[in-house]
Amino acid sequence: MTFLGIDIGTSGVKALLIDGNGKALGEATATAVEPLRPHPGWSEQNPADWWTATLAAVDALSKSHPSELAAVRGIGLSGHMHGATLLGKDDEVLRPCILWNDGRSAVECKEMEAALPNLRQLAGNIAMPGFTAPKIAWVRKHEPAIYDKIAKVLLPKAYVRLLLTGEHVEDMSDASGTLWLDVAKRDWSDELLEVTGLNRSHMPRLVEGSAVSATLKRAFVQRWGMSGDVVVAGGAGDNAASACGIGAIRPGEGFVSLGTSGVLFVSNDRFRPNTEGAVHAFCHAIPDTWHQMGVILSATDSLNWLSKMTGQKQAALSGAAEAQFTRPGEEIFLPYLSGERTPHNNAGARGSFVGLSHSTDPARLAQAVMEGVAFAFRDSQRVLDDAGTRIDRLLAVGGGSKSALWLKLIATNLDMEIALPEDGDFGGALGAARLGLCAAEGADPADVMIMPPIRTVIAPDEKLSAAYTDQYARYRALYPAIEEAHQ
Ligand code: XUL
Repeated sequence: MTFLGIDIGTSGVKALLIDGNGKALGEATATAVEPLRPHPGWSEQNPADWWTATLAAVDALSKSHPSELAAVRGIGLSGHMHGATLLGKDDEVLRPCILWNDGRSAVECKEMEAALPNLRQLAGNIAMPGFTAPKIAWVRKHEPAIYDKIAKVLLPKAYVRLLLTGEHVEDMSDASGTLWLDVAKRDWSDELLEVTGLNRSHMPRLVEGSAVSATLKRAFVQRWGMSGDVVVAGGAGDNAASACGIGAIRPGEGFVSLGTSGVLFVSNDRFRPNTEGAVHAFCHAIPDTWHQMGVILSATDSLNWLSKMTGQKQAALSGAAEAQFTRPGEEIFLPYLSGERTPHNNAGARGSFVGLSHSTDPARLAQAVMEGVAFAFRDSQRVLDDAGTRIDRLLAVGGGSKSALWLKLIATNLDMEIALPEDGDFGGALGAARLGLCAAEGADPADVMIMPPIRTVIAPDEKLSAAYTDQYARYRALYPAIEEAHQ
């Protein structure tokens, strides 16, 4: 018996097979088409691209691991969160999906909060442009003909589930990021839905991430050589899925994710909203568990941008930064290329380099980018701390965690040890596969969501702490200036 995790990311889809003990058996990836940016601050993707990449990844596993794929009993899905996939009455896609890092709906966020003054209390979160509901408010105002045709709004992984199973279903962790969920009650909120003129009929059915959501269509059971009923678990938003993958489900257990976005995540035993400081307070992917996170919109995406600017590969840039690194650089980078969520909640913020000189070269810019992202995590830690939340344990996940320097900069700035798991970057896909195992076997998530073997622990560099505290103060002082400049 095996289990399959499918992680639908902004930059590609990863499919991972595990056995009944949670051991990885094989993986395949397929890259997705880069998000479309038709206007500054917008970010969209065609749902068909996720589907093409999903089929490509699982088909690749069917070639490389045919017997292991044929033995799959349960599938779990993980997906990038918040995207608004608008479907008409025949489930036809009405427009490209507006993604999590799209900042166009700042005005609509203000209008929603004015229309429902207790929105923050109800949702436990601020209306932020990244969330799903404000995007619908934008479509209602600017594309009314499309709005009138909306029969269902699905998040990205729920759209892939619809094509895999024929059913509209969503899990609690991803549903939390819509701003339509009563996160404390784990149910849709009629009041929140009403603010965007929608009701429960527009929403998918809700299940817990570790529960069965639907079964795989016969056509795919046959295509991949499987047999019997293959169940699809509720799954999780990519961050809650990563938490399942690294075993962060008990209070105080957390991770730092260096993916396209950056996330500082911590599990909670109860709903702990704190809208000051733009903390996200969401359901976890397993029953009776919640989590908080600080979200920064451009983490490896900042290095990706620098790579495009300089024509040097990301790995070459981070390698060059590491080779010349001795202490905090003169250059400071503010990573607000897509605006920022935590702690600023400002979709209009923009990135900046300051302190450039004739000695500045791509390696020093790369160091500044990595430091800027580390400072952004430090901001998130500060507001979680203000909320009374302590993080007891941190693991690193995401593509950027391959850089030892980047992890050292983050550990030093958070003044916390960061553990790096062995064996690649399985966070979201592994968590999804584990949820598939729980759903198919009825296993207790506490037994399945265990910490992976740790390759190394990165400690804060005490010799650099004071210098980084000074540099962080300089970094913080710059935000009010750029905020003014971009108004
Ligand atoms: C979380 C968020 C991002 C996306 C990226 O709130 O917007 O982490 O889930 O995949």
